[in-house]
Amino acid sequence: MQLTVAHDMENLQATLAEFARLGLSVALVPTMGALHDGHASLIRKGKELADVVVVSIFVNPKQFGANEDFDKYPKMLGADVNLVGEVGGALVYAPQVDDLYPEGYATTVSIAGLTDRLCGASRPGHFDGVATVVTKLLLRTLPHVALFGEKDYQQLCVIRRLVEDLDIGVEIVGVPTLRAADGLALSSRNAYLTPQERLVAPKLFAALNQVAALLQAGNLVSAVLERGKIELEKLGFAVEYLELCDSDSLAPLAEYEAGARLLVAAKLGGARLIDNIEV
Ligand code: PAJ
Repeated sequence: MQLTVAHDMENLQATLAEFARLGLSVALVPTMGALHDGHASLIRKGKELADVVVVSIFVNPKQFGANEDFDKYPKMLGADVNLVGEVGGALVYAPQVDDLYPEGYATTVSIAGLTDRLCGASRPGHFDGVATVVTKLLLRTLPHVALFGEKDYQQLCVIRRLVEDLDIGVEIVGVPTLRAADGLALSSRNAYLTPQERLVAPKLFAALNQVAALLQAGNLVSAVLERGKIELEKLGFAVEYLELCDSDSLAPLAEYEAGARLLVAAKLGGARLIDNIEV
């Protein structure tokens, strides 16, 4: 199927209506563009689960804090459209800010509890912005399935919660994190790393694996996490958090249990990196 690019609601609805007329099931992959192989893996998974894949590309101002990188977030729509076409997506939806948030827009979707800790603690309002835009994108496209990366694990949990709470009839599928050969999780923000920092960055994933091994061996959780943070700081990371959490509620765990999630956020130079693994 030939790739369609829609910039407004009218074109979006016309293309979706055509998919419906043909009886095609739809997978949605929401993104902020600067697409890489991690995004491509979501599109490929979407193709396995539905007849056509819709990729939204929208750098959502509502999920960036005042001191964050909204203005410098990488934008490359032409290359993004090419990538979606190569991977076999059927529709790119790339709206303008005032298409999604016209004058008078006043509604925020906010998920209590889940969004207070981890990334929510240092990025107040971030998950409200994510939840709001994802709700709008789901309601505008009404897909059968929507795919999100485990790379942003807290985001995935937030979206599962909101879809359940608001009775949005879509299946949310989490896709494992795609990594570079050296272990670094692919991310649009890796573009902020200097060549020197890029060599250090994979040590974040290596540290997660070392910490996981120590936890599985039965060592005291608090001591292992403290030690892990110190080791990361020695490598040049400014650690925001390193936590062992319940894989659904993200509540902190004082004791290791199988299936727990180990999550980290750390700054390396100008880049804020996040990663997580199942323990
Ligand atoms: P963005 O950072 O562009 O990511 C879009 C989707 O790709 C997210 O679901 C993210 O988890 C996934 N992803 C990113 N890197 C990945 C990797 N290395 N492996 C697997 N999946 C990966 O996340 C957002 O945009 C926004 O918050 C959004 C959900 C679009 C709302 O604005």
